[in-house]
Amino acid sequence: MRLHATGLHIRYGRRSVVHGVDLAAAPGEILAILGANGSGKSTLLRALAGLLPHGGTVQWDGDAHAIGYMPQDNAIRAALTAFEVVLLGRLRSLTLRVGAADVDAASAAMAELGIAAFAARRIGELSGGQRQLVFMAQILAGNPRALLLDEPTSALDISHQLHVLALLRDITRRRGLTTLAVLHDLNAAARFADRIALMQHGRLIAIGTPAEILTRDTLRQAYGIEVSVQPGPGGAPVIIPLHVA
Ligand SMILES: Nc1ncnc2c1ncn2[C@@H]1O[C@H](COP(=O)(O)OP(=O)(O)O)[C@@H](O)[C@H]1O
Ligand SMILES: [Mg+2]
Repeated sequence: MRLHATGLHIRYGRRSVVHGVDLAAAPGEILAILGANGSGKSTLLRALAGLLPHGGTVQWDGDAHAIGYMPQDNAIRAALTAFEVVLLGRLRSLTLRVGAADVDAASAAMAELGIAAFAARRIGELSGGQRQLVFMAQILAGNPRALLLDEPTSALDISHQLHVLALLRDITRRRGLTTLAVLHDLNAAARFADRIALMQHGRLIAIGTPAEILTRDTLRQAYGIEVSVQPGPGGAPVIIPLHVA
């Protein structure tokens, strides 16, 4: 699903936190959203998911129900098993009698994320990283056409980060998804994103390829840090954070 957002303004009460963002994304691409804490990334994602009132326009050229949105905070108190949580990703097709296709989709998503082993565990008794994988499986089980993921790898160890990012890249390409992911890891964005959108103080200050965006000047502006940028494997830049500017 193609995304086209223009002139986005978002406020909480009287406080304006996103000002005039124009953003487009195409099927088959991963667009990473970067920016300092409080720069408006989560707010932007929620508005693109249709969960916040906003000024300007958000257009998806398809079924808005086919958006898989994963919030940043995945605290959950429900006494559900991991499998039941993933099955809830099928809510649109679920009836009172759970069909074989729904069970299969939930099982396949859990297998893809390597979490089949804790299908029967209670969600509240999993580690934060395990829970993050369960919610990722929940979203994939719904067979979305677009993904809006808010820090989807924040609780994962390095191996699971690589697994999830490679899986996202693979299914984004293979299924022609439009994938937006808020990330904090500059090197993960460099390697896995097709383009990077950089937010600062509620504005989109730059958008382009990793090589265009991940430069010393731009990172100094956005984060107030000094970095060294080195050529990395596969052409993606490698960012070495040095110190606060
Ligand atoms: N529910 C809310 N009510 C009021 N202000 C909020 C709310 N959520 C976020 N904010 C404020 O909006 C700004 C952007 O927040 P957010 O989008 O969460 O930033 P990011 O995800 O980039 O860290 C911050 O100043 C934050 O304090
Ligand atoms: Mg956030």
